Amino acid sequence: MPEYATRFADHDIDLSVLCHLTDRDLKELGVSLGHRRKLLANIAELPVTSSARPKTMAPASRDDAQRRHLSIMFCDLVGSTALSTRLDVEDLRAVVAAYHRCCAEIIEREGGFIAKYMGDGVLAYFGYPQASEHDAERAVQAGLALVEAVPGLETPANAPLGVRVGIATGLVVVGDLLGTGAAQEQAVVGETPNLAARLQALAKPGTVVIAPGTRELTGGLFEYRDLGTVALKGFDRDMRAWQVLSSDAAESRFEALRAASTPLVGRDDETALLLNRWEQAKAGEGRVVLLSGEAGVGKSRMTQVLLECSAQEPHARLRYFCSPHHQDSALHPLIAQLNHAAGIRRTDTDGERLAKLEDIIAEATDRIAETAPLLADLLGIPIGDRYPPLDLTPAARRAKTLEAPLTLAEGLAARRPVLMIFEDAHWSDPTTRALLDILVDRLAVLRVLLVITFRPEFVPAWRDRTHVDLLSLGRLAPDQCVAIISHLTGGRLLPREIAGQILDRTDGVPLFVEELTKTVLKSGLVRKAGNAYIATALIGRTAIPETLLASLLARLDRMPETRDLAQLGAALGRQFSYELIAAVSELPPALLERSLERLESAELIFRRGAPPDAEYTFKHALVQDAAYATMLRDRRQRLHGRIAAVLETDFPEVPKRQPETLARHCAEAGQTEKAAELYIAASGRATAASNNVEAAAHLKRALALVATLPPRAPRTVELRNRIMVGGWWWSA
Ligand SMILES: Nc1ncnc2c1ncn2[C@@H]1O[C@H](COP(=O)(O)OP(=O)(O)OP(=O)(O)O)[C@@H](O)[C@H]1O
Ligand SMILES: [Mg+2]
Repeated sequence: MPEYATRFADHDIDLSVLCHLTDRDLKELGVSLGHRRKLLANIAELPVTSSARPKTMAPASRDDAQRRHLSIMFCDLVGSTALSTRLDVEDLRAVVAAYHRCCAEIIEREGGFIAKYMGDGVLAYFGYPQASEHDAERAVQAGLALVEAVPGLETPANAPLGVRVGIATGLVVVGDLLGTGAAQEQAVVGETPNLAARLQALAKPGTVVIAPGTRELTGGLFEYRDLGTVALKGFDRDMRAWQVLSSDAAESRFEALRAASTPLVGRDDETALLLNRWEQAKAGEGRVVLLSGEAGVGKSRMTQVLLECSAQEPHARLRYFCSPHHQDSALHPLIAQLNHAAGIRRTDTDGERLAKLEDIIAEATDRIAETAPLLADLLGIPIGDRYPPLDLTPAARRAKTLEAPLTLAEGLAARRPVLMIFEDAHWSDPTTRALLDILVDRLAVLRVLLVITFRPEFVPAWRDRTHVDLLSLGRLAPDQCVAIISHLTGGRLLPREIAGQILDRTDGVPLFVEELTKTVLKSGLVRKAGNAYIATALIGRTAIPETLLASLLARLDRMPETRDLAQLGAALGRQFSYELIAAVSELPPALLERSLERLESAELIFRRGAPPDAEYTFKHALVQDAAYATMLRDRRQRLHGRIAAVLETDFPEVPKRQPETLARHCAEAGQTEKAAELYIAASGRATAASNNVEAAAHLKRALALVATLPPRAPRTVELRNRIMVGGWWWSA
């Protein structure tokens, strides 16, 4: 926003100050509301982009220890003992150094963090210090790249080197600094690192072996060989393992990872609009539909509907997929589409590749000699002497390369209607966006429907064109979520409390509904009984689905400096007031306000009203759960203890009017007796107001707490008696 540059300069605001500006500051500088929102969102991104995955990370202090969900990779040089007997020590050192460099380069390129070199072994974490929704996938990608690259290294060994790689994914505690400098290491405690090490030992030279948790997260993205169940040293149960064969198994991320497992629910208007635009496109009036919505809301699913509905009609389909790993590689979606459409395989010779490419060009246009050399160049296929060499300036080559796919599209559309699906534009590279700019304008007069999907962080440039519709997918209504749950349970009813929890915690996002329901069904919390599921134990809080953890944590990690505050908010509850968080937090007010604004601009929380009267709500209950789940037990207890103390001293009306709120914090803080007493009081209040269901629930909680106390202690006996009296009252 160049119009503000002078104003910022006049006020001595440079980049270092910009990060600390609040909404109020910007307002004082005369920045409009819309621009303030945009600026704050950009400011929120600043620290992440500037420190994105540095080579060496600032270590977490002991207090920063976190429960995290990581994909952990172990790789080991094959035959290193033999090498050590054969080579001079200096040569051996050079071999290991070359191998370590290769590992570091590949692992860091895939977003991994090298935690430790152990002789010739390398330990790497994916998902630390910054989680991303693709950690497991990137770990596997790095593993495949390693087993391919290491044998090609030129070293004094004078023979190809080999590696084996093991990868496991799961919950760990990361923290505690050991050593400094190059040996700096974030210690990870948990089963996952051991599992990765054992799988590595099991892997044959030159292969990557993964654990069930990793396999579940990578779905159909790779090709695997099932190694069956294997016995692993140090594990008391056998474990299933897979060898990863290659990465080009899937064309579409949606089909590889999600697929349509339940019938479509709702979305009638959206379906009607898409089908109507397809009819118009077929009649020669080219249309574009921009399909936007948050992750998991059902964008890809809508494109699937369109593909299904048009399946029987004569038309051509072009599907492009942006990939989170190729945001910097020019025209990646086009390259992947051409490779896939032409059926080009890695094992094909150059001649075969060129012939396959020419075949698909011929389906669209007669101008083969014009387009083939450009597209071959794009795909890295040598043209030999089949065409004259491309003798162009870089600018001319770029212009012509962008023209070639347009020629294909125009040619195809002249022969039959074309349905183009362009998925996940938020991961598109700049050259692809330039190509889309031209395509969107050109197709207005072609028999083409182009559907572009993206998450809301992407702001498309094409919204104002008359042939373009913007379709924003919102969350589903509760009854629609119930329909999805019901499909997954095979029509059996879940216990009311559990179904209620699923609805409350998934906020109408179909992906969350699916994953949480599957987690509940797998968890052993319920079992089938006739036409229903019944609870097998006292219903507590259901776990966060492992499949969603990485993506939930990624949202929190976008701003590591506000993580503590997000955790404090999470301990307070889905909703909390500015007044309460200000009283509990130890941050100075200006910093607190700024941090809350950052959480808000990252869309982790919503705000109603302005501080000091503001009320905040976590946008997603599951994000709140994830923030809470990353805290170590000790920190949780301390936080709840502090919250309980603040409530009692500064907010005396809370214990009086909602004893159950204080009870929850006391219970989590380990103040069991006090918590039980407060729940009994809460039950009494609910009974007095004839809220019998709540009264019973409070008493059940009190009873569960009392069960953890020494059974014969006089205080325990007294509490138990009071619960019985309360129960009698309530049941009478
Ligand atoms: N209306 C619906 N009815 C039934 N299932 C749905 C519906 N919408 C989405 N789903 C299911 O929810 C899951 C998530 O949907 P989808 O993958 O289409 O989301 P998305 O918006 O494309 O997310 P992302 O931004 O991560 O790509 C899928 O398994 C999909 O089948
Ligand atoms: Mg999608």
